Amino acid sequence: MSIVSGARPFVVGIIGGGQLARMMYGPATRLGLHVRLLAEAPGVSAEQVAHDVVVGDYTDAATVLSFAEGCDAVTFDHEHVPTTILEALEERGVAVRPGPAALVHAQDKVVMREAMAQLGAPCPAYQVVATAAELVAFGDRIGWPVIAKTSRGGYDGKGVWKIDGPAEATVPFDAVASGEVGGGTTAGSGTSGEVRILAEEFIDFTRELSALVVRSPSGQGVAYPVSETFQDAGICAETVTPAPGLDEARIIATQQLALRIAGELGVVGVLAVELMEARDGRILVNELAMRPHNTGHWSIDGAHTSQFENHLRAVADLPLGDPAARAPWTVMENVLGGSREDLAAGLLHVMSRDPQLKVELYGKTVQPRRKVGHVTAYGNDLPDVRARALHAARYLMGEIA
Ligand SMILES: Nc1ncnc2c1ncn2[C@@H]1O[C@H](COP(=O)(O)OP(=O)(O)OP(=O)(O)O)[C@@H](O)[C@H]1O
Ligand SMILES: [Mg+2]
Repeated sequence: MSIVSGARPFVVGIIGGGQLARMMYGPATRLGLHVRLLAEAPGVSAEQVAHDVVVGDYTDAATVLSFAEGCDAVTFDHEHVPTTILEALEERGVAVRPGPAALVHAQDKVVMREAMAQLGAPCPAYQVVATAAELVAFGDRIGWPVIAKTSRGGYDGKGVWKIDGPAEATVPFDAVASGEVGGGTTAGSGTSGEVRILAEEFIDFTRELSALVVRSPSGQGVAYPVSETFQDAGICAETVTPAPGLDEARIIATQQLALRIAGELGVVGVLAVELMEARDGRILVNELAMRPHNTGHWSIDGAHTSQFENHLRAVADLPLGDPAARAPWTVMENVLGGSREDLAAGLLHVMSRDPQLKVELYGKTVQPRRKVGHVTAYGNDLPDVRARALHAARYLMGEIA
């Protein structure tokens, strides 16, 4: 079934039980979709709100195939499902959205760079390096420092190194060899394909941007306003939407680039294009994500249609909703685990102080720097909006009393 019909609810299978899956439940309920969840463990964020749930291993083909029976479409909370399993699903006639041929560009940074080069998308200079000596040769040619990344299995800045000079060139190879990243023990280890080291030109960026678009199987596309994003030690901390000071021509060029990438790669659902704005003005593609993205959380309360609703609309091949912002400025702050263990107790203060503030908690236990929630504020005056959101997040993290 490719579109929703009245005969029975459209069944969306979501693989992965993190907060991204959890945040799809609200819009799924409103759209009358039935969600079936494949959770990695009992009690994870989305499993707490699910009623049709299978607990199992997403890297086990038999588990995923039996989970998908009866699903009209399957989508994801994360990008770690092995390509071979997704291909097997497609062979059985399950609509995988996004499909494995698109998703591989979010799973493997080398595949992504090669596709971006083919599309002529602006990217840092790059090269796949097999040894520390090749990394040194790349740095000598391009200029130090350079960035080294694992092709697969990185997340939240893990698997990305700034290499200042030849003396550090063994670091990424040692990390992969020891299994510290990209190997047996990391969260991203489920995808198939070997882990390679990608060397990149170090971009002296002034800021990072995110261009979020959604594409439906029918080929409709919508583009959200471009956001400015702030990472703290590899973790998204804050987004400001729209990105301050980005002129109309560059906004449109950036949105068009993201829509073109989504179209050319055949993405279904959300595509987040992470970008770097270089000191010389170039806007370069950093990486791609194909699922609702942290830099789009602002849209839950700040846009006419949230990224989660539009993702599900795309998965069910419904017409997409208006991505425009409701207010001139929207600021989202992540709430990371800090010294406050009882987040609910913190709600009393932040909600009574600011009735327009929106809080989203993920049902996760507080651990240091773990993403446990986010807050959103919107309004006409950016410094005021930002101060309100920042206060609430810092209070919930226990940084201020
Ligand atoms: N070529 C580059 N030049 C300068 N900084 C870079 C470069 N590539 C990446 N970075 C920095 O490292 C961060 C993490 O890189 P990247 O997004 O590739 O890794 P990740 O671990 O997959 O991230 P995510 O948490 O988004 O999954 C980027 O957000 C950016 O701040
Ligand atoms: Mg990234």
